[in-house]
Amino acid sequence: MAIATHQLIKRKRQGHPIVMLTAWDYPFAKLLDGAGVDVILVGDSLAMVALGHRTTLPLTLDDTIHHAQAVCRGVDNALVVCDLPFMSYQEGPVQAMRSAGRVLKETGAGAVKLEGGYPAIVETVARLTLSGIPVMGHVGVTPQSVHRQGYGRQGKTEDEGERILEEAMALSRAGAFGIVLENITHDLAAEITTTLPIPTIGIGAGARCDGQVLVTSDILGLSDRQPPFAKIYAHLGEKVTEAVQAFSQDVRDRKFP
Ligand code: KIV
Ligand code: NA
Repeated sequence: MAIATHQLIKRKRQGHPIVMLTAWDYPFAKLLDGAGVDVILVGDSLAMVALGHRTTLPLTLDDTIHHAQAVCRGVDNALVVCDLPFMSYQEGPVQAMRSAGRVLKETGAGAVKLEGGYPAIVETVARLTLSGIPVMGHVGVTPQSVHRQGYGRQGKTEDEGERILEEAMALSRAGAFGIVLENITHDLAAEITTTLPIPTIGIGAGARCDGQVLVTSDILGLSDRQPPFAKIYAHLGEKVTEAVQAFSQDVRDRKFP
């Protein structure tokens, strides 16, 4: 049985850090799940790391569902959370319910994540949650708003920090079971983490969050552009190049088969 959203809240209370990574296909989902990752995110970052887009904006709901189906086929234990892509929920609660409903019914994911904490999003989170769809929030840097805010660190001024804290509290009150804090000042992330009853999952937000998430291609050395806060744990890009060159050499030398 997969990890349930309420178990993550228990993890926060017990002080056990939550491990979250992204996946976009069956083999990586299976590897992550087998390695004991708690939460597997079908992040809309797949637009960039798996499909070669420059931003997350072009990803469609159909693209998302296609990838989430593959991921779910590889997962037995982790909670699968699926990002709602740009413009599949911003019109309002009705559009969001239709999109999130499709994700849960067609993929096997257990929850959705959507970006932002302004009042219309908070209302949408409440409606989704009441309908039985668990929602993870996401504040700070929200890449679907790249044309408005860029990717630079958020929460550096007192006003901005206050606003992000308010957004996080509003999402929590609306029923979100967890919240991603992306690229905000570490003190602000710590303050949000101690204030909220729900777990915070940080990315570029420092060590004082209840869990950490990174984009899997960033920890495996498979990304074109590496965010400064990511850490490379394996250089798979180089390994793949070496393997492909060795195979090519063998074929050209008639050593394989
Ligand atoms: O799309 C994504 O990968 C994300 C994580 C970075 C949190 O939203
Ligand atoms: Na995302």
